[in-house]
Amino acid sequence: MNKHSERSVRMMVKVLLIVFTVIIFFMSDSTANAEHREIRKIWSSESHITWIGTIAGPIENLIITINNKPVASDKLILNEYTESVHVRIPLEYGVSSLVSVVDGDHLLFKEDLFYASTFEEELVPEEYEFNTFHTERNEEPCLACHRLEVQENDKQPVSPAESICFPCHKQKFSGIEFQHKAAGVNWECLNCHQAEAVETDYSINGPIKFVIMEGMAVAPLCYDCHKDKKQEHDQYKYVHGPVAMQGCIMCHDPHGSNDKNLLLMEVSTMCINCHDLQEMMEKNKVHKPLIKDGCTGCHDPHGSNSRVFLPRDIISTCYICHPKIEKLGNNHPIMGHPVSGPEDPVNHDRQFTCVSCHNPHSSEFDKFLAADEMMMLCIRCHINGNNTK
Ligand code: HEC
Ligand code: HEC
Ligand code: HEC
Ligand code: HEC
Ligand code: HEC
Ligand code: HEC
Ligand code: HEC
Ligand code: HEC
Ligand code: HEC
Ligand code: HEC
Repeated sequence: MNKHSERSVRMMVKVLLIVFTVIIFFMSDSTANAEHREIRKIWSSESHITWIGTIAGPIENLIITINNKPVASDKLILNEYTESVHVRIPLEYGVSSLVSVVDGDHLLFKEDLFYASTFEEELVPEEYEFNTFHTERNEEPCLACHRLEVQENDKQPVSPAESICFPCHKQKFSGIEFQHKAAGVNWECLNCHQAEAVETDYSINGPIKFVIMEGMAVAPLCYDCHKDKKQEHDQYKYVHGPVAMQGCIMCHDPHGSNDKNLLLMEVSTMCINCHDLQEMMEKNKVHKPLIKDGCTGCHDPHGSNSRVFLPRDIISTCYICHPKIEKLGNNHPIMGHPVSGPEDPVNHDRQFTCVSCHNPHSSEFDKFLAADEMMMLCIRCHINGNNTK
């Protein structure tokens, strides 16, 4: 809808004021207007969506529901002078149905929204279009009241309120326990978000502003401020897969989180989900540190100089907490038995260590052994008393 026709619709609204009609334009979609009632299907990567429209008539007559639950009227930002209303509506994961009626039963709009993060693009049903807001065309109706032109000091605003992003995005950062200093504290949004508009796959309404060009591979952005992390990660002999892919945001929320260290979720759950190791915690016997300290009790999530990102080699890692076994030396589990060697007789491509007999995580058997009976354990490596290597 061009500016001209928009204005004439506004006029119409004023005329219709007598019958208390409310009309809402959806600025983020130029095709939406009162006559155009096909149900749009929109994919949002944010857990909120903002609707703005022009309203004539008492606000009480406007009812917006999300999944049949009314949106609280105190959430509406009303500007009486311009007769505009904004509302920032929370979305549930997956499909939400947004409906607005006026005067009891007059349907104004109906939209299906699908909320899933950009990670989960493959979960989004095909008919849902990605909803990007920041194009010149979409921003135009906002310029009367909001600043959208980036200025020199926006990269490091003197206070949050001075940030160009603050008026519209402040809610995104409220109620988060652990804020990322660069985001919801210092509002240095433009250290990560690109100020200039660029063409992307989603540029349906023209170039998009504030995109993250790096996609998942955001590490260069992070290392810009976290120089010590770059140094650390560069010198690791073994780098964890997602870190090697530069995918810091596969584990960290760049904005903030209710979990420590800005993690997307509780750390062990995150490891277990990505590695599909759910059964690890369901075994009969679970090694205490997995329950007490989680996976990071032994593994460094970024990498290390030892295999599987342990702080030291396997045996030395076990000895950190099992000094009694260390004292026994090569007398465990029986007198004269070695606990290490160049080759595991069962798995020839790895060394012989504690984990040749004990699962470091969990097992159905006592002491996390690989077999329930001592003899069964012994004969894994010794047949007829001989070493089978
Ligand atoms: C005029 C209000 C306004 C301002 C100012 C604003 N945004 Fe937005 N932004 C929105 C709206 C509305 C959306 C769509 C999501 C929604 O409906 O809540 C959005 C969405 C986004 C998105 C998701 C991609 C997209 O284009 O939809 C990013 C990223 C973003 N904003 C970053 C920023 C950054 C960074 C700043 C400051 C440099 C900023 N925004 C300033 C209103 C604003
Ligand atoms: C008539 C003036 C006006 C226009 C036009 C306007 N806004 Fe706003 N908007 C405001 C005011 C006033 C606030 C409240 C600011 C505050 O609390 O600091 C606001 C707040 C917001 C918020 C935050 C809502 C919340 O609950 O935190 C968003 C998002 C927003 N505007 C988006 C937009 C978008 C997108 C457009 C254009 C499509 C737009 N606004 C056009 C005046 C306007
Ligand atoms: C440390 C880097 C970084 C900073 C600082 C940062 N962002 Fe982001 N932001 C990102 C990344 C990366 C994404 C893309 C996440 C994705 O693809 O899921 C993103 C996505 C977004 C989105 C889209 C919705 C979403 O969450 O996926 C909005 C809106 C947004 N940022 C707003 C802001 C605002 C406002 C600020 C400043 C207060 C800010 N960001 C600061 C890195 C950052
Ligand atoms: C503009 C600078 C800047 C950028 C860019 C930046 N950070 Fe930060 N980050 C900080 C500051 C400042 C702190 C707070 C450090 C402190 O308190 O010692 C911090 C802290 C953190 C923390 C620790 C938070 C906590 O609660 O202990 C994590 C994790 C983190 N950042 C991850 C990232 C990731 C991932 C990225 C890239 C997506 C990133 N950072 C990009 C400035 C930045
Ligand atoms: C596999 C998940 C994962 C990835 C990928 C990841 N991190 Fe982390 N990160 C963690 C976990 C878990 C912690 C908490 C460490 C702990 O509890 O010992 C953490 C802690 C941090 C911290 C704060 C504590 C510290 O060690 O100083 C920073 C900063 C950080 N990560 C930056 C990054 C950067 C930068 C990247 C990308 C290069 C990245 N992380 C990638 C999981 C990850
Ligand atoms: C976003 C997905 C993802 C998350 C989250 C994740 N990992 Fe990984 N991890 C990978 C990928 C990819 C690899 C490299 C491919 C491989 O070797 O399996 C890997 C490799 C590993 C390896 C080495 C495997 C081997 O055989 O050499 C270990 C150990 C590991 N991860 C532990 C963890 C722990 C502990 C956590 C939680 C702190 C974690 N991972 C979180 C994706 C992830
Ligand atoms: C007590 C220390 C310890 C804890 C705690 C621990 N691990 Fe391990 N993990 C190890 C050792 C040692 C290995 C090497 C095993 C081997 O080489 O056979 C390993 C190997 C791995 C591997 C790669 C090989 C494999 O077995 O698939 C993954 C993935 C892994 N651990 C994930 C996790 C996850 C997820 C958690 C948390 C639920 C966790 N670990 C907690 C010590 C630990
Ligand atoms: C972070 C500390 C820590 C590390 C590292 C650690 N363990 Fe443990 N381990 C424990 C704790 C705590 C217990 C429970 C002790 C208890 O209940 O008496 C335990 C119990 C065990 C048990 C069972 C003892 C019993 O009586 O049931 C075995 C076997 C074991 N660990 C082997 C290992 C091996 C092998 C490694 C190296 C891969 C290792 N542990 C690394 C802390 C650790
Ligand atoms: C050849 C197989 C084998 C190797 C290698 C091995 N263990 Fe064991 N371990 C056992 C057996 C069998 C038991 C059970 C002994 C018993 O119940 O008397 C045991 C018991 C344990 C216990 C429980 C001790 C207790 O007092 O209950 C711990 C802890 C342990 N091992 C740690 C380790 C560590 C650490 C290493 C590596 C340095 C290691 N084991 C190497 C077979 C092995
Ligand atoms: C994971 C494989 C493995 C398991 C299980 C295992 N061993 Fe061994 N065992 C070895 C290795 C390797 C050696 C060292 C062989 C060598 O030096 O040639 C060894 C050596 C021995 C020796 C000393 C042989 C010599 O040459 O002096 C005895 C005795 C022995 N094992 C008995 C047992 C008994 C009893 C069990 C069951 C409790 C057992 N082993 C379980 C791998 C294993």
